[in-house]
Amino acid sequence: GVKKKEVNVLVVGLDNSGKSTIINHFKPPELKNHEIVPTVGFNVEKFKSKALAFTALDMSGQGRYRNLWEQYYKECDGIIFVIDSSDKLRFVVAKDELDLLLQHPELKDKRIPVLFFANKMDARDSVSSVKCSYLMGLETLRDKPWHICASNALTGDGLHEGVDWLTDQLK
Ligand code: GTP
Repeated sequence: GVKKKEVNVLVVGLDNSGKSTIINHFKPPELKNHEIVPTVGFNVEKFKSKALAFTALDMSGQGRYRNLWEQYYKECDGIIFVIDSSDKLRFVVAKDELDLLLQHPELKDKRIPVLFFANKMDARDSVSSVKCSYLMGLETLRDKPWHICASNALTGDGLHEGVDWLTDQLK
């Protein structure tokens, strides 16, 4: 048969934002981790679905590993950036990480789509996706197509809408 185009999606965001929970949602049942342990050190999680190959990288507290991320930047066709919309104290940290990521030489001139999940929308103190995009300065993100979705990774709300947008961009 015809081989489906496989696209590499990089899943990034601060620790505890919900990356593993989101990725688990798209895994076939036999591959799901029922217990998700916090990522320690330089952790890369890879998994393939029908048409998408996901690679999740944890961006926080690991500046010393940053040079090792380059290889993943090189092969990535799209980015999922996960934001904990209830973590107001770290919005500025998440924004710094986003800026560093988008300024990286391997990504700077690539017109790759960036999907943002304003995750944990169920949390009592979460901010809306509109507020989230304001706090992340997304209005200045002009050279890449982007989209933001509020999500609840625990129930799956918003995840498919987001990934459908990304898949559409990558067709
Ligand atoms: P690291 O492994 O530290 O990089 O974290 P991560 O980004 O992979 O986050 P993870 O998926 O481990 O989720 C962190 C915590 O947030 C876990 O306790 C999840 O159950 C919880 N969580 C993830 N998504 C949501 C959500 O949408 N709503 C709520 N209320 N909790 C969530």
